[in-house]
Amino acid sequence: MAEPILQVRGLVKHYPLTTGILFKKQVGAVKAVDGVDFDLARGETLGIVGESGCGKSTVARLLVNLEKPTAGEIRYKGEDITRLSGRALKAVRRNIQMVFQDPYTSLNPRMTVGDIIGEAYDIHPEVAPRGDRRRRVQELLDVVGLNPEYVNRYPHQFSGGQRQRIGIARGLALRPEIIVADEPVSALDVSVQAQVINLMGRLQDEFGLSYVFIAHDLSIVRHISDRVGVMYLGRIVETGSHTEIYDHPTHPYTQALLSAVPVPDPEAREHRERIILAGDVPSPADIPSGCRFRTRCWKARERCALEVPPLAVPAGFRDATGPVAHDSACHFAETKQVVPPEEDGAEPGREESGRGV
Ligand SMILES: Nc1ncnc2c1ncn2[C@@H]1O[C@H](COP(=O)(O)OP(=O)(O)OP(=O)(O)O)[C@@H](O)[C@H]1O
Ligand code: SF4
Ligand SMILES: [Mg+2]
Repeated sequence: MAEPILQVRGLVKHYPLTTGILFKKQVGAVKAVDGVDFDLARGETLGIVGESGCGKSTVARLLVNLEKPTAGEIRYKGEDITRLSGRALKAVRRNIQMVFQDPYTSLNPRMTVGDIIGEAYDIHPEVAPRGDRRRRVQELLDVVGLNPEYVNRYPHQFSGGQRQRIGIARGLALRPEIIVADEPVSALDVSVQAQVINLMGRLQDEFGLSYVFIAHDLSIVRHISDRVGVMYLGRIVETGSHTEIYDHPTHPYTQALLSAVPVPDPEAREHRERIILAGDVPSPADIPSGCRFRTRCWKARERCALEVPPLAVPAGFRDATGPVAHDSACHFAETKQVVPPEEDGAEPGREESGRGV
């Protein structure tokens, strides 16, 4: 296998909890990201999925260097970018861009669309188009399916879906290799979500992009992900290919998340088992011992409180071949089909329609 474009190893971000006003004393830490490992291959989409507060946005901010990790490495083409600074860091940052969740707050309301997209060239003049910058911005608007004539309009003159297209155009302006999209469609209507996801699929093919695509629910990334990592309380608890995760999940948490995925076929829906998780997600400042999922796991036993299950192929599947043999951090991993397999022909990430939606 070719070297991954991004390799994340032991990534940790702890926020200190302090008391006292004049003399601050650390009394604990919010373990937002607590040991995350994954690879991103060139041209692939890795979906990262988990409930609110599990650390997804923190991972995103670390990847694009908006924050420094407490520990761990982020290797871009083999080089640990967490140690870079100055010009070297700036060059890498250009290649890893972010698309934000909320298209309503992430675009400056006082700037025209042309200035919002073109602003990136002020920060990185080395990739600014020679000559007519406005024309380049108009080309980008066209690429994301917006009318190039809208270049002088303001964000409030666009719908949510159109605004997210502007956010994507801004992300593309510097011709990055990797886009980290933090819940890019969560704030949009369901009807618009598919169009934005399809647009991202088309742009990926056109520009050879690699995506880290973050979502809080497995149904959103189903059509765009080549691989998926399921996050719980700051760690990835199961990771595998699209087929491994959707058709052969072995971690109870993934199975519970999948049981909430909408199933269009009424008959399949009727026979599907819903797994309702008991209790709330524990605080990331007080993570349970052993398996961090044990306080909500219906299969938890004594061993689960004593031993941390590693993210690896579980012992019971080590001799197996095929899609059950993938990384799952559970001592008692079992395969279970929760959602019916996809029908043939449901090709992911292709744009159907929708200029300007
Ligand atoms: N700057 C910070 N200081 C202290 N705690 C923080 C900070 N940023 C995030 N956290 C905490 O870290 C945890 C993970 O937050 P994060 O925003 O990464 O989660 P998320 O998975 O993106 O959630 P959501 O789905 O709601 O966007 C949360 O408990 C959050 O309160
Ligand atoms: S290790 Fe135990 S508590 Fe954790 S997911 Fe597996 S069975 Fe549940
Ligand atoms: Mg978030």
